[in-house]
Amino acid sequence: MNKRIKNTNPKVNDFRNEVIEGLKMEQKYINPKFFYDDEGSKLFDLITALPEYYPTETEISILRDRCSELKGLTDGTEEGIELGSGSGKKGAILLNCLQDLKKYVLVDISLSALESALLFISERFPEKEFGALCIDYMIDDFMGAIDGIAAGKRLLIFLGSTIGNIEPSSARNFLMECRKQMESGDRLLIGVDLKKDVSVIEKAYNDSQGITARFNLNIIERMRRELGVEIPEKAFSHMAFYNREIGRIEMHLKCNVDFSMEFQGERIDFRKGETIHTENSYKYSIDEIEEILHEAGFSRTSCLTDQRKYYGIFISDP
Ligand code: AVJ
Repeated sequence: MNKRIKNTNPKVNDFRNEVIEGLKMEQKYINPKFFYDDEGSKLFDLITALPEYYPTETEISILRDRCSELKGLTDGTEEGIELGSGSGKKGAILLNCLQDLKKYVLVDISLSALESALLFISERFPEKEFGALCIDYMIDDFMGAIDGIAAGKRLLIFLGSTIGNIEPSSARNFLMECRKQMESGDRLLIGVDLKKDVSVIEKAYNDSQGITARFNLNIIERMRRELGVEIPEKAFSHMAFYNREIGRIEMHLKCNVDFSMEFQGERIDFRKGETIHTENSYKYSIDEIEEILHEAGFSRTSCLTDQRKYYGIFISDP
């Protein structure tokens, strides 16, 4: 184990308990954070390189093309803390742009992703100081788990539109919690996928190579691998659609056969045609995000977008 990684062991007990709770619900549900085991993190990395999956490349293009503005808007920050650091590639792009950052802390729920990201990024920036924290940052106090970060010079980084995975009210509460931990001089940098033509959004979650399907179905594989449950072959299919009323992509696993699953002495029945809801990905307008940031207590927000206005990078002052 890499000594620079602080591991709070976020998921050990949770997968079993949360899966069983979720599958007992009227609308069966599994939290999308469980996508990111080793296999799922690799599949997500493949998704980010798909031609249809515009969010990653658009986000990167904004970070690259608008670097000088980004620098101005984050002026005075010296220590980056990146929530959901994934492969470490976004961090490397930021470190290239924001050269005043002396220290960079990677925070992720996946230990294996954290290990390779730390290697990837520290090799590229030998002169910088790095930290890494394995934690469920949506639930647990990540600021409290990081040592030696100077208040007033911190840049809290939350890219990839991960905020879209939670309900808007939870997003506001989460940002409010972040805000409470921030002091004058600290800054928030958040990347959010914007509302746009529905066919563009739907294609991004129904790619022609079927990688998103494998990513979604990996939850079933995880249940087989880690929980030892028996699930018939091809029992589920990938499904993703945009819900216009609510403004979100919904991912489900659609059940193709009637069957029952034995699980820790309990029986869970599945009916052909029903679904397990595995993910929401909310899409926001610029106004909606600025309002949420305002409600969360941030005093001022600037927004950088790409030409097509597919994606927004928001920089907020506490
Ligand atoms: C993790 C929020 C970036 O909602 O777009 C990609 C995950 N799910 N394809 C998203 C995801 C299906 C993703 N984020």
